[in-house]
Amino acid sequence: MTKIYVITGATSGIGKALVEILAKDSIVFAGYRSEEKGSELAKISENIYPFFVDYERPETIPGAVEYIRSKAERIDRLINIAGCVVAGPFEKLSINEIRRQFNVNVFGHIEITQGLIDKLDNGKIINVSSMASFGIFPFISPYCASKRCLDMFFNSLMYENKRNIKVISIKPGVISTPLWGKSIKENSTLMQNCEGYEEEMNFIAKNAMKNETHGLSTDEVVKTILRVDKLNNPKTSYLVGKDAFFASLVSRLPQDFINKLVRFGLRIRMKR
Ligand SMILES: NC(=O)c1ccc[n+]([C@@H]2O[C@H](COP(=O)([O-])OP(=O)(O)OC[C@H]3O[C@@H](n4cnc5c(N)ncnc54)[C@H](OP(=O)(O)O)[C@@H]3O)[C@@H](O)[C@H]2O)c1
Repeated sequence: MTKIYVITGATSGIGKALVEILAKDSIVFAGYRSEEKGSELAKISENIYPFFVDYERPETIPGAVEYIRSKAERIDRLINIAGCVVAGPFEKLSINEIRRQFNVNVFGHIEITQGLIDKLDNGKIINVSSMASFGIFPFISPYCASKRCLDMFFNSLMYENKRNIKVISIKPGVISTPLWGKSIKENSTLMQNCEGYEEEMNFIAKNAMKNETHGLSTDEVVKTILRVDKLNNPKTSYLVGKDAFFASLVSRLPQDFINKLVRFGLRIRMKR
């Protein structure tokens, strides 16, 4: 039987790389938020059904759910990939930007999952979370908190649901994708007007630029997702990359010690 996938964040980076492979022999409902990128998706394969959804505008979610429900009698895999990064020091963050972070990285995924869940019986939900879920990265606290929150909500779905749906969190380390360039652009107003934190914001921006080219390839995440896709009894969480493994180890230390380590690490890295 041809497998049916729903994938959000399908127009770039990890999502796009995954869709290109899966569409060779499966039906893929692929989420886009810009018309131009939606038409590009449709050109890849006739197995792809692009659907519009913009998690910054939650009113677009019911339409996406309705479209998918009208075309798919069942869904084998829901792969929640859409994401963005809100950065800045706690005291300067705008509450609206924090809301945007949670709309995109958490609430959007919850709402689309709730809308499709009765089609997912015996299937899998695979979320692309992040090593940021371990919460040890300064000046991207909205991003870290959103990924942790996503993991907590969906882990509860894993033990609560009576539909035999398996829920899996993929936690990549740094991956070379356009996410980092977009994050600099989207956070530029705050980062350029961040009195008292200029050095730190400079470092964060430089680091993001480095991440865009020095991370692992999207292939590493795609390989992990394809492996999890086939397993009968997947684990609830998979790390991708040595940095993710390191973050998971550090997160097991006492919080006071982690905090000292993070401050020390930041000071050393900013001096380089
Ligand atoms: N890159 C990394 O180092 C890394 C590491 C760990 C986890 N991740 C996670 O991996 C996932 C994919 O990121 P990526 O690195 O592949 O970045 P990416 O290339 O920027 O892809 C992000 C995808 O999400 C979509 N998206 C962004 N905002 C959206 C919104 N408001 N509504 C609907 N879709 C939206 C983007 O659409 P557009 O194409 O229109 O922008 C794009 O398709 C994210 O959840 C990210 O947090 C990434």
